[in-house]
Amino acid sequence: MTKLEFLNLGKQPITNNFLKIQNPKNEFFYNLRIVFDDKTKLVSSAEFIPPEKMFNDTYAHRASMSITMQKAYKDLSIKIKERFNPKSVLEIGSNDGIFLKNFNEANAIGVEPCKNLADITNSMNIKTFDEYWTMALSKKIINQFGTFNLVYSANTISHIHDLNETFLAISEVLADKGVFILEDPSLLEVIRNTSYDQFYDEHAYVFSITAINNLVKKTDLEIFDVELLDTHGGSNRIYIKKKKNNIKISKNISKILHEEKENGINHFETYIKFANNVKKSKYELVEIFKTLKKSNKKIIGYGATYKSSTILNYCGLNNYFIDYFVDTTKNKQGKFTPGTHIPIIKPNDNIDDDIDYAYLGAWNFKKEIFSKEKKYINRGGKFITHVPSPQIL
Ligand code: TYD
Repeated sequence: MTKLEFLNLGKQPITNNFLKIQNPKNEFFYNLRIVFDDKTKLVSSAEFIPPEKMFNDTYAHRASMSITMQKAYKDLSIKIKERFNPKSVLEIGSNDGIFLKNFNEANAIGVEPCKNLADITNSMNIKTFDEYWTMALSKKIINQFGTFNLVYSANTISHIHDLNETFLAISEVLADKGVFILEDPSLLEVIRNTSYDQFYDEHAYVFSITAINNLVKKTDLEIFDVELLDTHGGSNRIYIKKKKNNIKISKNISKILHEEKENGINHFETYIKFANNVKKSKYELVEIFKTLKKSNKKIIGYGATYKSSTILNYCGLNNYFIDYFVDTTKNKQGKFTPGTHIPIIKPNDNIDDDIDYAYLGAWNFKKEIFSKEKKYINRGGKFITHVPSPQIL
């Protein structure tokens, strides 16, 4: 047995299951437990949820909902064109086309199992397969379009259970001189920020560079560059190539692997310490909410993120503590948060005048939100966050 459990986040719902009625009779819950594999160094959920329960035609997340992300993907596409000038692009997990729309649609292909999202990009003339990423799909795409100079995947590989097949299928579809760019939340940042909300049903894994390096070593691929990004509260952008492609390997890699080692990524004790920090974080966050409710403060949630679902359910923050969530995503509005049953509404231009505190569900967009909510801040309105530790801002 190489998988060691270090964190039990209790009963959790499907994060994408935004409810049409507040108190449904049959809501699905499972026990979210997190384990560390001391052989591969992978951190994952102990139990994987069947993909059909999470990625279906009611998938709510729209990558294009934030101005920050729109700009980030546009800037990235310019950078990629300058550095690699790819003739063909394949994106695994293309969501609503926020990345692919920056490329010539004749040379861009999407893979997106959520049909409601694949329909959006197909209607933008970006050929999109509404299927899961597998070896069979990789072969089907090669038969129709050949191999690709760029394969890109952000916040998707961590959702796929069989990583060995995933990387082999990517190696197949990648041209010999091609580049695969992978982005996912950084485990080191999760540990540093006690941002345990990166653990939820969809995130089967939270990756370290160490673990990805161990995985790709088993294939004909290798990492040649890494960047740390602000997105999703701290993500790694990992550049991967075929071993036989002689692109220079950046010095960054050994630096980052060393940094992860120094921070104990390879050792179970690090995760035990992290779990203790999570328990402390829960206690402190609940205390903040209890104290504010005692003095009759009105609290709302800002951004009904998937991440916040873990926090709300683990900390028992329900409709007693939080009156409602505001969220700009249309298909979350008029619904209720999974498990905790808090109404979600469309935001007005500014947070309403009777509100004293707003809990940052979308803490990863703190900058964008603070600049939007200047009026609220100027009249003394406060925010609550749990990152990097529970506090009022
Ligand atoms: P996201 O960061 O993608 O987190 P997750 O993957 O955990 O769901 O989601 C951000 C959510 O916050 C999204 O539903 C849109 C919402 N949001 C607002 O409601 N207002 C805002 O100003 C911003 C930036 C985001």
